[in-house]
This record gives sequence, C-alpha cells and structure tokens, in this order.
Amino acid sequence: MNILAIDTSCDETSVAVTSERRVISNVIFSQMLLHKKWGGVLPILAKRAHQERIDSVIDEALKKAHLSMEKIDYIAVTYGPGLAIALEVGIEKAQELASKYDKKIIPVNHMAGHIYSCFVQNSNGNPKRDFEFPYLALLISGGHTELVLFKNHLDFKILGQTRDDAAGEALDKAARLLGLGYPGGPAIERLAEEAGNRDYRQFPVPMRASKDLDFSFSGLKTALLYYYRTLDEEQKVSQIKELASSFQETVFKSLLQKTETAMKQTGVNRLVVGGGVAANQYLRKLLRNLVNKYNGEVYFPTFKYLTGDNAAMIGVAAYYLAQEKMYVNALTSITRVPRLVLTK
Ligand code: KG4
Ligand code: ZN
Repeated sequence: MNILAIDTSCDETSVAVTSERRVISNVIFSQMLLHKKWGGVLPILAKRAHQERIDSVIDEALKKAHLSMEKIDYIAVTYGPGLAIALEVGIEKAQELASKYDKKIIPVNHMAGHIYSCFVQNSNGNPKRDFEFPYLALLISGGHTELVLFKNHLDFKILGQTRDDAAGEALDKAARLLGLGYPGGPAIERLAEEAGNRDYRQFPVPMRASKDLDFSFSGLKTALLYYYRTLDEEQKVSQIKELASSFQETVFKSLLQKTETAMKQTGVNRLVVGGGVAANQYLRKLLRNLVNKYNGEVYFPTFKYLTGDNAAMIGVAAYYLAQEKMYVNALTSITRVPRLVLTK
C-alpha cells in the first residue's frame, strides 16, 4: 500500500511516499530562513511559502520514490493541529489530487504523526522492532508539550499537557531574550554544553508541587527575564552560557519529573519521544537514565530529520488509519482543526 502524505501544518512544506512503516521518499522544504528574522513563524508568510512550494515538493517526492500518482493508493494529509491558513494549503492540495486521480484521503492528526515518528522505518524496513504496547509518549515541540498514554494503535489518552508555552517555545523565547536567534533549542544546547555549572542559577521548576501531569513554562521565561534585567551589559555576556544552561536544565527537570510521575502512575516503562526538542542529546541522556531506573526503554525517531516536522510520520500514522478504514472520498469536505487534540 503506497501512501502520498502531505504536511503543511507549520513552517515545513513536506511530502512523503510511504508504504506501511517504510519511507520510500521524504522531501522537506523548510521555511526556517524565511521566519528567522521574525524570531518565530509568521502564518501569512508560511501560507504563501507552502503555496509556492507544494507542487514541486510533491513532484520531487514522487520522483524520488520512482512512482507516479497512479501507483499511489491513498493521499494522507495533516488536518490539525497547526496554523489554520497553513493547514489549508495541504488539505486543498490533497483534495485536488484526490479528485484528479480518484483517490481516497486519510486525514491525520499531526501529533499522532509525532508519536508514530518513533516507529518509522527506512526503505529497507529497518529498524525492525515491532510495537510493544502500551507506551508513554512525550511530545515536545515548538507548539506542543504533551504526555500521552499510547495504549494501542490509534488509542491515545492525554495525561498532561502544557497550560501555556510549549517546551520548545520556552527555549525559543529564552534564546531570543539572550540574543541567540531562532530556533532557540539548538543554540541553547550548544551554549549549555560549554557551561561550567548547570545549576548556576536555580530557577524554580514549574508545577513541581502540583499533583497532575501538566506543564507550564511561561513563568520560567518571566523569571529569566527579571533576572536578566538586573544584569549589566558585561554580566550579560559573561553569564550567557550559564544562563542558557540553567534555563535548559529547569525545562528538562520539569519534563523529567512529570514523565517519571506518569511512569509511576501508569506502570508503563516504555517511552516514545517525539518533536523537535527530542533532538537534544543531553535530554536524550537524561531520559535514558530515567527509563533505566525503571528497567524500561526509550525510543526516539530513527533519523535525525524525523525529529522535526515531516510527512513521513504522517504517512506511517495514515497506514494504521487506513487499516481502520478511516478515509474519506475526494468530495468530502475536510475542515482544518488548528486545535485538534489526540483522542481514541
Ligand atoms: O517538532 P518541531 O521541529 O516543530 C514543531 O514545533 O512542530 O519542533 C521545533 C522546536 C523548536 O522550539 C526548537 O527550538 C526545538 O524544537 N529544538 C530543540 C533542538 N532542536 C530543535 N530544542 C532543544 N534542543 C535541540 N537540539
Ligand atoms: Zn510537529
């Protein structure tokens, strides 16, 4: 079964051809440079860039897969969560192609894609590792921070989520304050590696005392801002590594603490981690240490590029939706749902 998958939910125009869990081709056009000077993603610019690129990205994905549209069985498309006017570009294109080539459409939740990104295989079917339900999924991207119980295929239960900023967003905002540019996560990671003391500045770990599994990062950002304002220019320069490191440390402590609580509450010791922040090597180490404590396992997306947004993960999630006949025909109207949530 060949699936052509499209994702235009945020600032990457991505199209993939997948077959079951295997990626045959995966083309990503990143708009990073376009948004860089604004320090974040501007929806109207994102929409225009998706419109300009979508056809060529589709052509390239098919070409790389050595397949024509006739050989595609389903068209999968992200319908949320994401930026409304960006999602619309992908949905309209999916409908246009489905009508032209008489294909069914599989609408996919982007967050389900991030969860399935940990199970994506290369074109040779590696890694072979099969599903061993249940899992806890930690989704940490620029727009989302969620702890999800992944009980079985397409059976998701949100255990906790952020009440304000996402983990990646917090890192991006801190980086902007520190003058490190966008995206902030990688810049902070690099500086933190050079810092002498991870706990140079002890920021309070958000939501530590709360009994639920929710997160909150906006207060932490404010704490950094207030402290930063007390510094003179020379101190701002001399403390930058330590501040980046202390901020990152606090964000990660919060992620670790809630994940550990979720492991204890559910008894689930297998963890899957998706979203851009999962690219952080230090966080990966912390999560490995955590699961080792509970004789568990942690899985990250195999390929480096799979930690960001990509249509390959959408195509793989779509395969499991197709098994459940969760597709519609080309004439069915598909509404984008910018705040779509994961449910069973
Ligand atoms: O999943 P993603 O590529 O896009 C979406 O938001 O959907 O995630 C982007 C986020 C950004 O906030 C970025 O700063 C963060 O992931 N990020 C990182 C790293 N690489 C990207 N955060 C920490 N360490 C990294 N190495
Ligand atoms: Zn994403």
